[in-house]
Amino acid sequence: MPYRSRITGTGSYAPEQVLTNFDLEKKVDTSDEWITERTGIKERRIAKDEAASDLCLEASKQALQAAGVKPADIELIIVATMSGDMPMPSTASFLQKKLGAKHAAAFDLNAACSGFLYGLSVADNFIRSGAMKTILLVGAEVMSKFIDWQDRSTCVLFGDGAGAVVLERTTGQRGILSTHLYSDGNMWDYICLPGGGSQNPPSLKTLKNKMHFVKMKGNETFKVAVRTLEKLVLDTLKKNNIKPSGLAMLIPHQANLRIIKATAERLHLPMSRVAVNLDRYGNTSSASIPIALDEVVREGKIKKGDYILLESFGAGLTWASALIKW
Ligand code: UT7
Repeated sequence: MPYRSRITGTGSYAPEQVLTNFDLEKKVDTSDEWITERTGIKERRIAKDEAASDLCLEASKQALQAAGVKPADIELIIVATMSGDMPMPSTASFLQKKLGAKHAAAFDLNAACSGFLYGLSVADNFIRSGAMKTILLVGAEVMSKFIDWQDRSTCVLFGDGAGAVVLERTTGQRGILSTHLYSDGNMWDYICLPGGGSQNPPSLKTLKNKMHFVKMKGNETFKVAVRTLEKLVLDTLKKNNIKPSGLAMLIPHQANLRIIKATAERLHLPMSRVAVNLDRYGNTSSASIPIALDEVVREGKIKKGDYILLESFGAGLTWASALIKW
């Protein structure tokens, strides 16, 4: 029997501090009404002194406990993030130390909001190839540190959080059926954080020009996202010979409720079968899908044998999907 990977444990964590739309009304020229109507977001969590690896640690502990896996059994830790502890070493290395996962290799992966699904594909392929049996994958972001809190077009959107999954080798029918990864770098400037890398190294000029903050062409991105995701979800189901009606749950990246609804409509899926949590967390980028997955698992909304579709869209531009038989 060929190897397959299966998610055997999930976990999630978000910082305690809550920032509501009403709090934001006091900081920038915005309103709860605008944010709710245009995005669906009501509040988000903001890290105080916690770094990405601290968020990872809490989510990972839960996922490991749910899977019944000890830190020493982990062979690889992948952290999908674009707001890691520091550019080097990797946040995955910090997490390895904090968990005491002494036998694990560790690296970060940056595919922006698609990072978790890119990581899922990498982990799945390591396991399918027979190279590894047990992998910890985390999506974690502390986007609040890279947001211009005077820019109303971005500061209302993002939040901090982490979600983790443990993937284990199986030869059964359940598990990850397929993953699909895409990118178009021509649209790199739709969402970017231009300062701090080798193109624009940190300097007084990059600080002065606010180049260390997220920039986004929101409306342009919105249009590409809706179009791209509609095709992506239909293609993913077709590849697996599954009709939309056979889907138990859609777990989309949580950027905008209007985008999520458009994708659900394309699949003729009632919103009761769509995981939505951006009202409470905002856009947590690579953490949004694993947080949503952990919530539906813990609420008992998915059961053994259910087909679940995960999809994402973000900076790069990148987009990705995965079909899972739970
Ligand atoms: O996670 C990665 C992927 N990201 C996405 O997929 C995000 C996709 N984009 C979006 O979700 C939406 O485009 C936004 C929520 C970012 C913006 O919504 P929109 O309906 O596309 O609004 P817009 O950017 O076209 O702006 C409409 C108006 C503008 O005013 P004028 O020019 O019409 O007078 C903005 O200046 O809304 C104004 N505006 C705001 N008003 C109040 C922009 N931000 C705000 C704000 N509060 N926070």
